[in-house]
Amino acid sequence: MKFFIDTADVREIKDLASTGMVDGVTTNPSLIAKSGRNILDVIAEICEVVPGPVSAEVTATDFDTMLTEGRKLAKLATNVAVKVPLTWAGLKTCKALSDDGVMVNVTLCFSSAQALLAAKAGAAFISPFVGRLDDIATDGMDLIAEIRQIYDNYEALTTEILVASVRHPRHVIDSAKLGADVATLPPSVLRALANHPLTDRGLDAFLADWAKTGQSIL
Ligand code: E4P
Repeated sequence: MKFFIDTADVREIKDLASTGMVDGVTTNPSLIAKSGRNILDVIAEICEVVPGPVSAEVTATDFDTMLTEGRKLAKLATNVAVKVPLTWAGLKTCKALSDDGVMVNVTLCFSSAQALLAAKAGAAFISPFVGRLDDIATDGMDLIAEIRQIYDNYEALTTEILVASVRHPRHVIDSAKLGADVATLPPSVLRALANHPLTDRGLDAFLADWAKTGQSIL
């Protein structure tokens, strides 16, 4: 399973990329706003740090402007994945950009019908938002299972399932069990994956015993 990180904070991206766990990056207009930086500058910089797909989202809502924005974002680097919302204009933009050979991530997906349309439009990635579904008392993981089942029924549907709106490690484990291709994780969730209280307790005990020996490896 691939891990993308869901942030536009370049310092965080550099730090986590050095662990070898980062296969790509996702951003959205809210994350760019949080970074306080110009979208073109920050996406170009992220693309230099991470060789995998870096999602950059269009902000227009009509087809012509979305396509112009998408082409401009795609020119920043070969690893840009243009993110478009799951609207008819977004799907049309997805088809046009995909036909040009540009990776497209169709975002704001909340149903398997939407995911089917995105795949037919040639999306490289579909982003179902599991956390936002959980927030309205609908199990986000049911959507991942349904999309997986549908895509697996048809060889021609090669779109990767990119689980988004991930809030905690359980979302990551459940996504992996269901065979999702990618999960995009806030940095805090990626870090939390390594945590276990028994690891901490075990290490404390080993170090305490080691200290009693008076030895040093170096
Ligand atoms: C990433 O592609 C999505 O925009 C992001 O995961 C949304 O997360 P949120 O629901 O926590 O804002």
